[in-house]
Amino acid sequence: MTAANAVLIWEFGVAVSQISEGEFGLLNRTLLTIAALVLFYQLLRIVYAYVYQRLSLAFVDRLRGKMFEHIMEVSFPILLRFKKGDLMTRLQSDVDRALTYVINLPLNLVENVTVFVAYAVVLLWIDWQLSLIALTMAPLFFLSQLYVAPKSGELSRQFTEERAELVSIEEQTLSNLRGISSFNSEPIMRDIHKTQFDSAREWALKTREIRILYNSLFTVLLYLAGVVVIYSGIAGIESGKLTIGALVSFLIYIRNITGPVRTLARLPITLQSDRVAADRLMEVLGLRPAVEDSENAQPLRVQRGDILFNEVTFSYPQQDRPVFSRVSLHIRAGETVALVGPSGAGKSTFAGLLLRFYDPQQGTICIDGVDIRSVTLRSLRNQISMVWQEPFLVNGSIRRNLSLAKPDATEAQMIEACKSSYAWEFVAALEHGLDTVIGAHGVELSVGQRQRLAIAQVFLRDTPLLILDEASSALDSRSEQLVADALQALRKQRTTVIIAHRFSSIRSAERIIYIDETGRLTVGTHQELLTHHDEYKAAVEWQTAARQGA
Ligand SMILES: Nc1ncnc2c1ncn2[C@@H]1O[C@H](COP(=O)(O)OP(=O)(O)OP(=O)(O)O)[C@@H](O)[C@H]1O
Ligand SMILES: [Mg+2]
Repeated sequence: MTAANAVLIWEFGVAVSQISEGEFGLLNRTLLTIAALVLFYQLLRIVYAYVYQRLSLAFVDRLRGKMFEHIMEVSFPILLRFKKGDLMTRLQSDVDRALTYVINLPLNLVENVTVFVAYAVVLLWIDWQLSLIALTMAPLFFLSQLYVAPKSGELSRQFTEERAELVSIEEQTLSNLRGISSFNSEPIMRDIHKTQFDSAREWALKTREIRILYNSLFTVLLYLAGVVVIYSGIAGIESGKLTIGALVSFLIYIRNITGPVRTLARLPITLQSDRVAADRLMEVLGLRPAVEDSENAQPLRVQRGDILFNEVTFSYPQQDRPVFSRVSLHIRAGETVALVGPSGAGKSTFAGLLLRFYDPQQGTICIDGVDIRSVTLRSLRNQISMVWQEPFLVNGSIRRNLSLAKPDATEAQMIEACKSSYAWEFVAALEHGLDTVIGAHGVELSVGQRQRLAIAQVFLRDTPLLILDEASSALDSRSEQLVADALQALRKQRTTVIIAHRFSSIRSAERIIYIDETGRLTVGTHQELLTHHDEYKAAVEWQTAARQGA
């Protein structure tokens, strides 16, 4: 491509010479050559652009897919330290910018160095003295980089972080519109947004200022070089050393060589700012999940569903006080236990340990006598269904949400699950039934309906172990009864841990595990705890009083 363009420029110079010397006979041939060269050059460019676009898009897609997969694999709880908006920025614009770093950069380097060397050779060949005058300017550009590049990198890092924070604020606002409206918090959110916006803009301006300054300096030097070349060139023509055509070609080559010089000179700046994006991607790609399969992990097969905590000690990283210390507990196969206790005592942590979001620092957790650290994570989580306080539903049809729980579920199985969870009565009443889209662009479901749908998911999963983190928000008594009935049906034949907030579920459990503020467990039936555990008795009395008062 470079060669085609170089010849093209040369032929153009030839044409100018022929015109100035009146050799119109030869001119036709030259013009034809030029036309052919233009066509050939453009064709090459199209092919190049086509290949480049395909390759770069494929690269971006793969990188984004890899990031997305990795984020899901690392997952909770490692990603808790990132804001969602920050991760989204990494997935979106940082991936695009990394393209520049990984693909454009080497391509640019190769392309521009080739062009630069080729044109420099041609220039030297036309007139080496003139060329040396022109090329002396080049080192100046590169020298100025030593100052500009590090500064530009730092500015770019600041700007990227500020913008990620901006996206975080926007993301949080969009996910909490209801709360913001009900608190009349719009002005506050607008101020927070504006402050962040201003701050991000400051950095954007600084980044641009330095580039504008640099570009201006570059242009001034360029024109200076041009003036010097024209002066010396005219002298060359007068002394008969140079033809007009050669000077015209020379000037066009100079014009063409500035592009590569400019790009090459600017490379350190681009490099610095795109490296920020690449670094941010590498940071996420370098994360490891909090727990991983051990080397010879076996799949877990649950026969009975017996759960044993043996002297378990666990504290969250960066927290000095352990949530549990040397806690032992046996939950028998098929049993329903209720986990109760004050807020912050460690109920959700208990579920997290069982699902192996974290491993205990000491002690073991066994299912059917098998240490859960020796089995594959996938098989472990395949045997446990968790109903979260906030149901896990995505935007899309009810059908899609159900198939998240069981990808190969048939229509009949879905309907059956909905019936068992008392969700069918409202699903059947929807105009599009299972194909009704819920969430964005669709029907909003009530909390009770969402919970019943979540329970339908668990029916489909049909696992031997079950953990229910009850929603503490009160449902009306009919919905509460429906949800309670659905759960009742679900618990049959399964070992069930209910993180209970409601009195009704406490009573339906065979045994109660009371976790106090220090993470100590007391196990017994409702009656036993009432008589022997003052704190439990006080909590129950308080709740009963609250209920009657309500
Ligand atoms: N990811 C975390 N990192 C650090 N500390 C945590 C984390 N999650 C919970 N904690 C702390 O661990 C303790 C137990 O929290 P946990 O969520 O298990 O309480 P809980 O009994 O489920 O409370 P609630 O009834 O309010 O849901 C609390 O003191 C909490 O602050
Ligand atoms: Mg909790």
